[in-house]
Amino acid sequence: MEEIQKILENSLIELEKASSISDVVAVKNLYLSKKGKLSVLMNKMRDLSIEERKTFGKEINDAKITLESRINEKLDKLNKEKLLEELNNETIDITLPGNSLNSGEKNPFYKIIDEIEEIFIGMGYTVEKGSEVDKDHYVFELLNIPKDHPARDMQDTLYIDNETLLRSHTSAVQAHVMEKANGKPIKIICPGKTYRRDDDDMTHSHQFAQVEGLVIDKNINMGNLKATLELFARKMFSKNSEIRFRSSYFPFTEPSVEVDVSCFNCHGKGCNVCKNSGWIEILGAGMVHPNVLKMSGYNPDIYSGFAFGIGIERVAMLRYGIDDIRRFYQNDIRFIKEFNKKVED
Ligand code: DAH
Repeated sequence: MEEIQKILENSLIELEKASSISDVVAVKNLYLSKKGKLSVLMNKMRDLSIEERKTFGKEINDAKITLESRINEKLDKLNKEKLLEELNNETIDITLPGNSLNSGEKNPFYKIIDEIEEIFIGMGYTVEKGSEVDKDHYVFELLNIPKDHPARDMQDTLYIDNETLLRSHTSAVQAHVMEKANGKPIKIICPGKTYRRDDDDMTHSHQFAQVEGLVIDKNINMGNLKATLELFARKMFSKNSEIRFRSSYFPFTEPSVEVDVSCFNCHGKGCNVCKNSGWIEILGAGMVHPNVLKMSGYNPDIYSGFAFGIGIERVAMLRYGIDDIRRFYQNDIRFIKEFNKKVED
């Protein structure tokens, strides 16, 4: 017992003398490690009676606990001192200039989408989200393009399986929206990406984007379509913009039109933007085909509607004078930062 107390006293004296963290760790090892001075005393238990063992064991444990807690106190104190010293020695010059981060800019492609949405929301439309991967049923069949229809050739795309494909036009969203609306009036636009098998060049890309528009209600007529698109052109290009309809063909509209906007660059005189014609084609549109209405549960004798599909990159290229469609996808920060043009009111 005396020996235990003696060893404890010595250890505490040594601990007192220890002036660094490593000194304290050395004391800890010397007394408390497996072969440390306090631990090896346990071997003496063998020579003691059961009664003596109990008190002896307890004494050693108490000594260990005392030493351990004193060691921890001291380590704590030394660590705090060390930290304080480090803080005192460290000076931070808050007047040094920081590292500046380059802020990004929205790709003009997305700026145009925002603007298009804003224009149509202003006319009471809601914005729908469609899916880029869709079923043949929605992309073609419900749009009056059955399996063997020749119009499918123009929209060859990437198939995931026989019935699932990357949509070749945003028109696919029409059938989804009609299904959801369940016979009620509709007034939506849906911007999104589309895919077609195409050779990439300055004006073509296998991936591009469109904004689909669909209005269905009673008494919707071609005049409504024209007024809507005229307002769109005036907000997007120039307050003096005119539009013209040329007859065309789409399986899902009847009649169908190709829509041109008067050249906002030369105002009809002829220039290189409009290839000297005074007009620029910007979209396809028409009155929703009665078959399309019927297939989606609308009675064409009661309901009518118009639809349109605008090429987003085309609008952005015309609006900003961009010569190559591929620039939208290359993420060149110098290109992206160039566009902040607003149309005058
Ligand atoms: N989906 C057509 C295309 O990709 C564009 C289009 C034309 C959409 C007429 C329409 C429409 O909604 O009515 O070429």
